[in-house]
Amino acid sequence: MPLQNVWLDTMLELKDVRKDFDGLRAVDGVSFGVDEGQIVGLIGPNGSGKSTLLSLIAGTIEPTGGQIFFAGEDITHLPANEIFQRGLVRGFQDPSLFFQMTLLDNTLLPIKNQRGEQARYAPWRRFWQQEEHDHSQKAGNMLEQVGLREHFDKSASDLSGGQMKLLEIARSLMGDPRMLLLDEPAAGVAPKLAHEIFAYIAMLRRDAGVTFLIVEHRLELLFNIVDYVYVMHNGKRLAHGTPDEIIDNDEVREVYFGD
Ligand SMILES: Nc1ncnc2c1ncn2[C@@H]1O[C@H](COP(=O)(O)OP(=O)(O)OP(=O)(O)O)[C@@H](O)[C@H]1O
Ligand SMILES: [Mg+2]
Repeated sequence: MPLQNVWLDTMLELKDVRKDFDGLRAVDGVSFGVDEGQIVGLIGPNGSGKSTLLSLIAGTIEPTGGQIFFAGEDITHLPANEIFQRGLVRGFQDPSLFFQMTLLDNTLLPIKNQRGEQARYAPWRRFWQQEEHDHSQKAGNMLEQVGLREHFDKSASDLSGGQMKLLEIARSLMGDPRMLLLDEPAAGVAPKLAHEIFAYIAMLRRDAGVTFLIVEHRLELLFNIVDYVYVMHNGKRLAHGTPDEIIDNDEVREVYFGD
């Protein structure tokens, strides 16, 4: 259910963000906001700048111009790891898993500040044994939530494309993010699993209060769960509105649906 008539704080704000790649303006003066606890969709034709925009927000590439704020702070020029530490976490269009590692190990990877990894604690088991146990339990719970617990000791390479997407979402939750940026979570995923992924996203917003910005071409799935939609075209923000408003928008139909 979309959140309505609830006053929320702005979680993410973009002001006139630009990105040039050798003469190509991939993102051309985009401004928008995402409120805390919202699920916002980012759609647009191939090459319209959606993935580039997610990379700019996550700090994996630097903007040519403009400003990006997260939870009220300017993160425009922060390195990606600092943005991650603040709780803004990005999933990739192709899951960036370690395919030879087990599901459990993949899930445990992103945990911040593990004591056993800090030189001053490493020699003293009692400092990190409990913590390590807690993390394994949490990872087990995450895998349970996405229906992958029974496969915890398999290699990630044994999973289907859809299961890999779910594993990546489970893994990105280990650091307790405040906001997730997801790039086509349902791409190449069988219909049933794709529905499960979107149901899981809706549940995470409801139960854990996670805010989402989701790029997705499968609009029938996306429009079921989003509060608001931004449409990109040629690097610019073409339109914005509720799913119903976007479906009725002639300009969007023309560039996106091709009629
Ligand atoms: N690292 C890069 N170097 C040069 N050009 C790039 C780079 N990354 C993206 N581009 C270009 O920027 C434009 C926007 O690409 P982007 O991947 O952001 O589109 P998209 O909206 O995510 O498309 P899709 O729906 O196909 O995933 C494209 O023309 C692309 O070729
Ligand atoms: Mg893309």
